[in-house]
Amino acid sequence: MSRIELRDIGLTYTTGKTEFPVLRHISTVIDDGSFVCVIGPSGCGKSTLLSILEGLLPPTDGAVLIDGEPVSGTGVERAVVFQQYTLFPWMTAKQNVVFGVKQIWRDISRRDLDAIAVEFLEKVGLSGVMDKLPGELSGGMQQRVAIARALAVNPKILLMDEPFGAIDAKTRLVLQEMLLELWASEEPKKTVVFVTHDIDEALLLSDKIIFMKPGQNLHELPVDLPRPRSKEILFDNGEYRRIRSSLVDLFYHNSTEPIGEKEAAL
Ligand SMILES: Nc1ncnc2c1ncn2[C@@H]1O[C@H](COP(=O)(O)OP(=O)(O)OP(=O)(O)O)[C@@H](O)[C@H]1O
Ligand SMILES: [Mg+2]
Repeated sequence: MSRIELRDIGLTYTTGKTEFPVLRHISTVIDDGSFVCVIGPSGCGKSTLLSILEGLLPPTDGAVLIDGEPVSGTGVERAVVFQQYTLFPWMTAKQNVVFGVKQIWRDISRRDLDAIAVEFLEKVGLSGVMDKLPGELSGGMQQRVAIARALAVNPKILLMDEPFGAIDAKTRLVLQEMLLELWASEEPKKTVVFVTHDIDEALLLSDKIIFMKPGQNLHELPVDLPRPRSKEILFDNGEYRRIRSSLVDLFYHNSTEPIGEKEAAL
């Protein structure tokens, strides 16, 4: 749980003498305990924005404030899950989670570390494979471990960059529902910023969708749909179809990207 404020963020990459502006005048507020999805065409700066929120990349202009305090680097209250599998291949699932927790809570006893790793691997449904190496696990299982590792340090903010982007459609749905259940089961809830290319994923998960487009202001779409959600229930909901149609319109009819990019995005 934490309120995030983006205050007039700008980011320009500089390579040699070439300047490449990616983000300009980005301002928004992400409420305490809300689930926000960031969506937009490839190359519009979603991952760049997430790196700024993580504190790895200082913005060229503006500031990120978390609960009113400016962000000036990475912090233990923020955890990240990426699309690429980021587990250490020589460590078992459990050792990966233990390692992640030890980086943050250095003085914790071996016994407590083990207990936390087991607790979170159970929460993501991996009780049976804790002692397997990542290479022995499917992509979906590896992302479950990455989620367990991120949640095990009890961050207030969870930053996720297309975490299910490389997962097949069926497994993806299972993971989306698992993530929603984990998020909803906690009180106070974590603030989640989730980058995706997938409109239906964003509608299933979020309280608000932030649509980004190169060189334009953000479009913010509140997602006022009942929870708990499932794809079947949403499909028959008029509000769901209305927001979905606005998003498709933003992608297709207002997009500054070439046609090929639009199709990739959807
Ligand atoms: N380190 C860097 N140096 C220079 N340019 C960069 C750097 N990182 C990203 N870019 C450029 O900035 C733009 C935004 O990149 P970013 O990765 O944030 O986009 P994205 O919206 O996450 O795209 P995708 O949906 O494909 O993941 C792209 O044009 C990219 O080529
Ligand atoms: Mg990206």
